[in-house]
Amino acid sequence: MKKELRQVSIAGTGFYMPEKVLTNKELEKTVDTTDEWIQTRTGIKERRISAEGQTTSDLGAKAALDALADAGLKPEDVDLIVTCTLSPDTIFPSTSCLIQKKIGAGRAACFDLESACSGFNYGLIFAESYIRTGMYDTVLLIGAEQFSKILDWTDRNTCVLFGDGAGAVVLRPARSQDRGIIAHEIGADGNGAELLMMPGGGSRNPASLQTIENKMHYLKMNGKEIYKFATKTMVDIVQKVMLKAGMTENDITILVPHQANIRILQHVAERLGLAGDRVFINVHKYGNTSAASIPIALCEAVREKRIKDGDVVAFVSFGAGLTWGAAVMRWEGKAQQSTVNGPQSMASS
Ligand code: ACO
Repeated sequence: MKKELRQVSIAGTGFYMPEKVLTNKELEKTVDTTDEWIQTRTGIKERRISAEGQTTSDLGAKAALDALADAGLKPEDVDLIVTCTLSPDTIFPSTSCLIQKKIGAGRAACFDLESACSGFNYGLIFAESYIRTGMYDTVLLIGAEQFSKILDWTDRNTCVLFGDGAGAVVLRPARSQDRGIIAHEIGADGNGAELLMMPGGGSRNPASLQTIENKMHYLKMNGKEIYKFATKTMVDIVQKVMLKAGMTENDITILVPHQANIRILQHVAERLGLAGDRVFINVHKYGNTSAASIPIALCEAVREKRIKDGDVVAFVSFGAGLTWGAAVMRWEGKAQQSTVNGPQSMASS
């Protein structure tokens, strides 16, 4: 029997930020930088740093439990865990498997997704496809990062920009066919792979004394080129995804973008004509948390009541790869969310 495709919506959001705050003023003491430079060039005032011994899966597990509680679900309800990260606990096994164990989601299948800061947008497509086709009912999509462990804390070009944190969303079938995800746009250009990378530790440069001495296990970035790429790409893909959705950027209630630099976000807001509070910004508090930044921002926006039922919410991201992604959805408020309904799912049949 042919199954009807289901609309997919976000049933719960959660996040977790490590307690330790590292301010620009504190960085001034250890790096050749100033609070004034960081604030004017990036908008960042402070970032969070994980505690000694705390891992990426620890942060992800806390965000996941927060999102499940928000959705009114238990870990046993989860069919699939997808963790987007480029700073996993270990190269293998996946951080999703470690989170599964920590939260007790024993039924869930698990994998990690590595699309750098675009991870959330890539993950949204996977999660949506599984639910839309009836393969699964409940997908936990997590963004979790610990850049503090992969930064060269003597390199002022990179260490001031990033922070640690995790965000998560629970995806479920929407109750109403006029709510949920409407359109996506993702892409990549491997020609830009060298612009942002960690050269050591993989098959190209396996870990050795030499790779450590040459600081190859730290993030390396060409900031200027990434900046040019980000400003152009973010505008283009928001316009593209809105077109796919049969809308324009005028229809966006709120844009929840990847938080990398306030100047990039101001440029995007201006080019898209999204004035005032139509772009959610929290980069000043957390810096760039890579794949975690959109789910963290989304959760804060929801909890600050910046998003309500029926709103058009757009997401946009860019990152290493190079990769990019955008999505648009019509937000489904709590009262409208379902237990599993819609066409029969394979998971429950
Ligand atoms: N403190 C003080 N001075 C600094 C610092 C610092 N922390 N960092 C760089 N400078 C200096 C530079 O050395 C340079 O000095 P010089 O003119 O004497 O050579 C000067 O400041 C200007 O440097 P620029 O590179 O021109 O600074 P710019 O205005 O371009 O800002 C920045 C740099 C913030 C990195 C910007 O280019 C940027 O945000 N790029 C995008 C980065 C990004 O978003 N990366 C994440 C991608 S997502 C992912 O996948 C992880």
